[in-house]
Amino acid sequence: MPRASLFSLEKEKTFERKETKNSPNLRTHAIWIRIPVAPYFIIKMEEKISRNAQENYKDTTNLGVRKNFSANNVRPYIDLKKEVFYMLNLPNNKKILDVACGYGDFLVLLKERGHTGELFGVDLSENFVKESKKSNQDINFSVANAESLPFEDETFDIVLCKHSLYHFDDIPKAIKEMSRVLKKEGKLVITLNSLANGSREKIEKFKDLLAEVLQINHLDNNKIINLENYHKYFNEFKILKEVKFFGYINLKEIKTLVDYMNTLKEFFYPVPSEINWKGALNLIEKEVQKEIDKTGSYKETWGAGVILMKK
Ligand SMILES: C[S@@+](CC[C@H](N)C(=O)[O-])C[C@H]1O[C@@H](n2cnc3c(N)ncnc32)[C@H](O)[C@@H]1O
Repeated sequence: MPRASLFSLEKEKTFERKETKNSPNLRTHAIWIRIPVAPYFIIKMEEKISRNAQENYKDTTNLGVRKNFSANNVRPYIDLKKEVFYMLNLPNNKKILDVACGYGDFLVLLKERGHTGELFGVDLSENFVKESKKSNQDINFSVANAESLPFEDETFDIVLCKHSLYHFDDIPKAIKEMSRVLKKEGKLVITLNSLANGSREKIEKFKDLLAEVLQINHLDNNKIINLENYHKYFNEFKILKEVKFFGYINLKEIKTLVDYMNTLKEFFYPVPSEINWKGALNLIEKEVQKEIDKTGSYKETWGAGVILMKK
């Protein structure tokens, strides 16, 4: 077994990832089975974490549905890319890297607002990068893993990682990479979801329920790193600003929420068959309908935040 993999598993332990009883996170699962099974098997399981994300982001559909869900239903709606833009309050000439840039909308926003400095975006999804390249030829988009950034040391004034840290197999390694490519006086900006004040409480419970019904694990992305626990990953950074936003979802019908839940299939492991998945989603539908019948609507708090740091 390569030393690096063993090392990263050891490191993971020190972060005390908290999981629910019913749906242990796959990473913890990998640690748990470390002693009784062959290391080879552990590597195989670890690979699957990023493979699941790759599968989910193989085209823009799932991310599109989730983004529209927030934009259309969370009130007041906060457009995080605009909040990042305001927080940075950038001079136009800064050299910027967006890590796990999705389809590059933050960089496009910068361009639209007259940014003249060089802009770079990397993402693991080949299709996202292809789409981004088509529409934005002035921006340097490329396929790359956040854990191994294809840039020289101290290249960028700003590195951004928006709503993506929780997908990385080795979060400390990705943070190290971001730090490496940042200039000495450079700034790092991240955005994450909140799990405080009841934020996402019901959705997270539904994920637990789905895992239980399907008798599989889900990757508990938001529980791994969120607005409440991110500090422990960033000991080597100084936090300059942290802004949290809380909104509310108030749905009068079920379809919107079920469509959102439907985009999460690949974050379960092993990925359920379509027929099992639909069956399990039906159960969620019934739960939501019960709440709507009882109270008139499905309500949920929805929180997220932007954090600005320097090395
Ligand atoms: C929730 S989306 C966020 C995209 C974008 N930052 C945004 O805010 O719209 C997560 C993104 O992380 C990317 N991703 C997942 N694992 C990655 C990795 N190891 N390296 C680079 N990108 C990764 C996915 O392809 C996806 O585009």
